[in-house]
Amino acid sequence: MECPVKATTKIYGLIGHPVSHSFSPAMHNTAFSKLKLDAVYGAFDVPPERLEHALMGVCGLGIAGLNVTVPHKSAVIPHLDRLEPLAKTIGAVNTIVNHNGSLRGTSTDSAGFLRALKENGMEPNGLNIVMLGAGGSARALLAGLAEANASSVRVWNRTTVRAQNLVKDLKPIFPGCNIQHIEKENLMGLECDLLINTTSAGMHDDETAYDLNHAVKIGHVADIIYNPPKTPLLKQAEQLGIPCHNGLAMLLYQGCESFTFWTGQDAPVKEMRKALVSQLKQPH
Ligand code: ATR
Repeated sequence: MECPVKATTKIYGLIGHPVSHSFSPAMHNTAFSKLKLDAVYGAFDVPPERLEHALMGVCGLGIAGLNVTVPHKSAVIPHLDRLEPLAKTIGAVNTIVNHNGSLRGTSTDSAGFLRALKENGMEPNGLNIVMLGAGGSARALLAGLAEANASSVRVWNRTTVRAQNLVKDLKPIFPGCNIQHIEKENLMGLECDLLINTTSAGMHDDETAYDLNHAVKIGHVADIIYNPPKTPLLKQAEQLGIPCHNGLAMLLYQGCESFTFWTGQDAPVKEMRKALVSQLKQPH
């Protein structure tokens, strides 16, 4: 059997900790194969103390590009040579391209989320949004939603100071959007058009960052978690008859944007979606 990896094959991959659960290798290898690109995509489990060495390895070995996931989205920034403006604004990177040893970082999370929102029939323009969480994903989504003319975004986080810092950093950049921090007690009697969960509550446990029974009226609920496809929050939304959306479409579209950033080519969306759906059917 012919070995699919040759001396000229470009190497891409994901760095994070952990990464064994990721669907990105299946999605990107399917895309490379569909477009007949001589490239492969792997997953590298990089604990925080090895991050610097891992990025030196990317340059040293000529790895062509990376995705970056939890917990490295902000920590990679000091190790990069150039940042795209959006990544600089939000202080988080999820995609790196290696140009002859120079590492350039960008974030495709917000573009991915906005495309997913559109697919679900929603435009951020004029919406009143509540966001749970204040990590790298929350920063990216908030910037994308504010840029797309959301009317207001209120941010709640378990660790209050992180939400306050997020608001402090992004509010001056997007004066047209009413960006505020919200305290837990003010989530009682909540009314909003869209509630977005960017926390990891419900990914590995039965937790929800917010009990929807405390709300008065929520138009839609979106969770950026894609596995499990129905987090406890989405199950509760379904029981209450609130339209809800998981993170699979965001994963797909942020992946498409990363693919184009690396290769300059349009991503084969249909095949990439199929690869993701088949991953969901496998035991993880
Ligand atoms: P990412 O880059 O994916 O956003 P992150 O920066 O590690 O990842 O942020 C994870 C977010 O999930 C944080 O807002 C975190 O809250 P803290 O800042 O208080 O740590 C939130 N989070 C994680 N587990 C949670 C839980 N069980 N309940 C509520 N929030 C949780």
